[in-house]
Amino acid sequence: MKENHPLKQAYSRSAYPLVGHGKRNVQVLKDALAGVDGDLDSDMYGSGKVIEDFEARMAELLGKPAAVFFPSGTMAQQIALRIWCDERGMRRVAYHPLCHLELHEEDGLKELHGIAPVLLADRERTIGLADVEQMPEEVACLLLELPQREIGGQLPDYDELVAISAYCREKGIKLHLDGARLLEILPYYGKTAAEVCDLFDSVYMSFYKGVGGIAGAILAGDEAFAARSKVWKRRHGGDLISLYPYILSADYYYSRTAHKMAQYYEEAKELAALYNACSGVATKPSVPVSNMFHVHVRLPKEQLESILLSICENTGIGMSSYVAAAGEDASCFEVSIGDRYAGVPKDALRQAFRSLAVQIQSLAARA
Ligand SMILES: Cc1ncc(COP(=O)(O)O)c(C=O)c1O
Repeated sequence: MKENHPLKQAYSRSAYPLVGHGKRNVQVLKDALAGVDGDLDSDMYGSGKVIEDFEARMAELLGKPAAVFFPSGTMAQQIALRIWCDERGMRRVAYHPLCHLELHEEDGLKELHGIAPVLLADRERTIGLADVEQMPEEVACLLLELPQREIGGQLPDYDELVAISAYCREKGIKLHLDGARLLEILPYYGKTAAEVCDLFDSVYMSFYKGVGGIAGAILAGDEAFAARSKVWKRRHGGDLISLYPYILSADYYYSRTAHKMAQYYEEAKELAALYNACSGVATKPSVPVSNMFHVHVRLPKEQLESILLSICENTGIGMSSYVAAAGEDASCFEVSIGDRYAGVPKDALRQAFRSLAVQIQSLAARA
């Protein structure tokens, strides 16, 4: 959506945007650095106290022997899969057809590494044990994206995950976790990060998204894996001479938000219930399993845009900054809960949802 789209502008000016933590502006970095000692030495090409201390803390959180800080998850994950493919001598991995690597990375895995994907499951559901057992070809590694973002942030049952992990270990298939939103799923599973990561050979986690930082990623695994990932980071040009603005901000926002994931999860369920109470609206999943969900509406994109715009202007509630078409006469948008939601007055929220229901109904009556 264009920067000057009326809905985007109205959302950004609205008194109560419902999604995320706040604006992505320079203040995010200024806040993170405000309490930092100016004499703290910079990291240099992946070494130094500031990066090593943070990597050690993240390795402990994830229950892995070692962790490496990367500027992006895109870089970290392509490298993880390359390492596992080299180890097995096989340039093939399995993942979901709507995972980040397949949709949003311009085929980096294929073009840079010559690695071919085997696509498992479909756009309606997450990968299950049966998909892995019936895989048509051998693979070096299976990547699971938890939650599966492009289908609303769905998750497999924990038992299914345990069974997939056991099967992969038995067959010598490495299991990699795209845990961009790992912290966000822990309240639903009722597990620690280390317990979930124990099912996987390697793990990536993001510091923006639910954590609320600027950018940056951690990649964790055993010592040999981490050492090889550092070589690949250098090859990819990811070893910026200094990464401390990302590390310090990752640390700051991790400390501020990691303990609030259960709150975001409860709030996501509350907000999804408000959407589902409107006729013609359904969330996916119907009950969220993390802080995120998708809202599907039986209206063409343009009609939903104008409804959201009017709600923004009349109630101050920004439901979404964009709407995407979802087939003929249907549209959708993504919601992820952060710090903003708790500050939204409930009466304004109720008024906004009354308005949504009434406007959808009156359009349906005219159709
Ligand atoms: C599920 C998932 N994996 C990987 C990435 C890549 O992260 P980055 O933007 O740090 O490259 C993203 C980013 O949106 C994501 O949502």
